Amino acid sequence: MVIAEGTAAGSSTPIEQVLAGFRRDRADLIAILHAVQNAFGYISRESVEAIGAHVELTPAQVYGVLTFYDHFRTKPLGTHLVELCVGPACYVRGGAKIRRVVETILGIEEGETTPDGSISLRGAQCTGTCALAPMIHIDGKQHGHLRLSDVPRLLAGLREAADPADRTDRSDRSANQVQGGAA
Ligand code: FES
Repeated sequence: MVIAEGTAAGSSTPIEQVLAGFRRDRADLIAILHAVQNAFGYISRESVEAIGAHVELTPAQVYGVLTFYDHFRTKPLGTHLVELCVGPACYVRGGAKIRRVVETILGIEEGETTPDGSISLRGAQCTGTCALAPMIHIDGKQHGHLRLSDVPRLLAGLREAADPADRTDRSDRSANQVQGGAA
């Protein structure tokens, strides 16, 4: 469960409560990073400082480890998560074109979150369902045998919270792109 960071009503903060479950040992650093991300959804600058103090590393040293692994995030995910499979089967069946259309519609690139915090886009590893390639996951739900023309419809509901004028503009651009390059 993701919890909010900040000062708790008790004597310790949420990050201190997470860290209390771990030894003050650098060997636990990866486990601590997992626990903090699981607790808060990402690893903030404040968490990095607290983690460093806990295991006697500088914030730069903690950053060095967490940025080495793609799994860890230093910014919160959006309300909705769109994941594009980056595996070979999806790639050869049009994954790159689909990614470009998704990025155009959302106005962000892979690894980014929309400015309103509503949608995050990231790559995902093959889940072994290559027979359904190309594949996209939206909030954990698989959509296989994806066609370029399916993408605007699938993402339309996620754009509800965004500015309508901005959404219309991006949809128009996407429709033009789909017509020009649909599989
Ligand atoms: S390569 Fe995409 S599901 Fe396997």
